[in-house]
Amino acid sequence: MDANMDPLVLLRNEHEEIRTFLNKFEEYLKKISSNIPDEEKNNLISGLKELALYFDKDLEQHLKREEGALFPVLGNYIGIETGPINVMIIEHNHCRDLSGGFKTKINNFYADNDYKGLANAGISLSRLLSEHEDKEDHILFNMAEMHLSKNEKKDIAEKILTINI
Ligand SMILES: [Fe+2]
Ligand SMILES: [Fe+2]
Repeated sequence: MDANMDPLVLLRNEHEEIRTFLNKFEEYLKKISSNIPDEEKNNLISGLKELALYFDKDLEQHLKREEGALFPVLGNYIGIETGPINVMIIEHNHCRDLSGGFKTKINNFYADNDYKGLANAGISLSRLLSEHEDKEDHILFNMAEMHLSKNEKKDIAEKILTINI
């Protein structure tokens, strides 16, 4: 991407990537809670461990881009401490907590074999994240379209480019 790109288009594209990732993630979670041999479960755990890296890197970068580039500027119009941006920030932190909980479940898996707990932790994270991105796409970003000027959008796009994890 370059700084001339509409930052809302960029963030919406990242939402699409997140959705694609979550579909794959949920497929693994479904498989692990089904009746399959232990060996296959071990393979799925290795796969899920790999997938969990996504939350620390790609997802964290997306959340930071919204928090660091979009929210401060949009906040000048609709506020940050209360209202929709505040709700979005609370949900970001909730996603981070759930992702931490999921990683703990994975790390404990060989000790407790709690594949149902693991699957539930993953599903809670996936549901929250997917509902969160829907809200941004359908509500918050439409507010941003209404308020942000061309120059503000350009500044946001430039700022986004500096936020890389
Ligand atoms: Fe967000
Ligand atoms: Fe988002």
